Amino acid sequence: MTLLPDQRIILTGATGGIGCELAKQLAAKGAKLGLVGRSLVKLEQLSAQLKTDSNNICLICADITKSDDRQSIIEKMENDFSGYDMLINSAGIMDFTSILDQSDERIEAVFQTNVIAPTLLCKKVMPYMLAQNKGHIVNIGSTFGSIGFAWFTSYSTSKFALRGFSQALRRELSETPIKVSYIAPRAVRTSLNSSAVYNMAKEVKMNMDDPDFVAKKIIESIIKENKEKYLGFPESLFVRINAILPGLVDMATRSQNKIAEKYVR
Ligand SMILES: NC(=O)c1ccc[n+]([C@@H]2O[C@H](COP(=O)([O-])OP(=O)(O)OC[C@H]3O[C@@H](n4cnc5c(N)ncnc54)[C@H](OP(=O)(O)O)[C@@H]3O)[C@@H](O)[C@H]2O)c1
Repeated sequence: MTLLPDQRIILTGATGGIGCELAKQLAAKGAKLGLVGRSLVKLEQLSAQLKTDSNNICLICADITKSDDRQSIIEKMENDFSGYDMLINSAGIMDFTSILDQSDERIEAVFQTNVIAPTLLCKKVMPYMLAQNKGHIVNIGSTFGSIGFAWFTSYSTSKFALRGFSQALRRELSETPIKVSYIAPRAVRTSLNSSAVYNMAKEVKMNMDDPDFVAKKIIESIIKENKEKYLGFPESLFVRINAILPGLVDMATRSQNKIAEKYVR
């Protein structure tokens, strides 16, 4: 079982809805946090809310899609905390749109942010974690990473890739002390979701969780070292059904997809 106090954690997406709550709850447990986001103002606002010693917090203004910025995350952690024990990849972007209406650049950005950057960050932290004989990589996925959702096509695909990466990496590292967890929330009330998503979710009665609750569940999963965790029922069941009987889920989601289509236009 992972012991959280004094753990040195790199948290991407720290300024986001889930990331902020993770930061608050991890700080309250005594973790040393490298908070990563692109806006220093947002990072400072978050830092002011954390109930912890300021020496336990390191603000890292970085765009994770840029190689130099990923290197600066590592250097800042080495400089401020002499290293790191955990990487939580929580940064992510999402569009609710027909794939035809999403620009090529935006599709590339979704894959860069949700798949390529987390993959390259994992690769960056692994040598040090192997050398210190401990480490935990936590990738934040989504229910949409197991069930392909219409109108969230690029996002869904990116989370499928992140799930596959997490599974393969976990197996590749199974004889090492590095743990790999993939934790997949269902919909969460954060600004990742546009007003169109909220309106659609209301009409199709999509379950939505609050970010503080989701952060609590993510931390529980980290402590238990869950390999894969799907948050929320019945979504966790639908994940299994879709894996075995995708044709059944095609039929079950047909009417929901038609309703959702109204909101993307
Ligand atoms: N909300 C949901 O419904 C939901 C459901 C399931 C899974 N998830 C997953 O949970 C994770 C967190 O989502 P959230 O709801 O907290 O999202 P959010 O509120 O929109 O926050 C997104 C975070 O990602 C950061 N980010 C985006 N692009 C970045 C980049 N290029 N470089 C550095 N940071 C970047 C943002 O930082 P800036 O301040 O720099 O913009 C922000 O901190 C994501 O991986 C998401 O896919 C969310």
